[in-house]
Amino acid sequence: MKPIVSPSILSADFAHLSKDMEMINRSEADWVHIDIMDGVFVPNISFGFPVLKYVAELTSKPLDVHLMIVQPEKFIPEVKALGADIMNVHYEACPHLHRVIQQIKEAGMKPAVTINPATPVMLLQDIIRDVHMVLIMSVNPGFGGQKFIEHSLEKVKELRAMIDRTGSKALIQVDGGVNLETGAKLIEAGADVLVAGNAIFAADNPEEVIKQMKSL
Ligand code: DX5
Ligand code: ZN
Repeated sequence: MKPIVSPSILSADFAHLSKDMEMINRSEADWVHIDIMDGVFVPNISFGFPVLKYVAELTSKPLDVHLMIVQPEKFIPEVKALGADIMNVHYEACPHLHRVIQQIKEAGMKPAVTINPATPVMLLQDIIRDVHMVLIMSVNPGFGGQKFIEHSLEKVKELRAMIDRTGSKALIQVDGGVNLETGAKLIEAGADVLVAGNAIFAADNPEEVIKQMKSL
């Protein structure tokens, strides 16, 4: 099966956003990855809902919303109002993760959970059957353009084994330092969804990079 490719607009040109969004619409990309940061859970602030309203209007692809914020459950109505297909919250930001996952489902979105590089895969054992997707961060979240942490490949393999063992249908997504080289290794390790910011938007021909990622 071809990988799902989700370009991260954190690396897009916000002065000419419609140009980059048109490129994504034209391309073979499956989803649009949206990184929301609060300056508390991660040491950076990205963009909020007033800006994302326009991003959502500019795309024809499903929105894959990655919330790097504390108390993400407070924003379920706002994420739903954007028209998000997937609402992704961090394991480390949700002491009552099971409840948050149920609330996302009740709001009519697909729930996903993200783990940071230092969070072990085995902690997902009791939630893996309830989520649509798990995102393995392959950099410490907060910034685009960082170097891929090689150990993430082991985590993908471990998660693949957990999914197969438990009969979960969860997709495996990876985010951070993903390019054609690390992407190929991730697919081999068992990943289903590749998120890429810098590798796509800093390329001379972003549409071609997306096409090549789809053929990994
Ligand atoms: C990082 C974000 C990523 C980021 C990836 O905290 O979650 O989605 O945009 O950027 P690259 O692909 O440049 O590492
Ligand atoms: Zn992200």
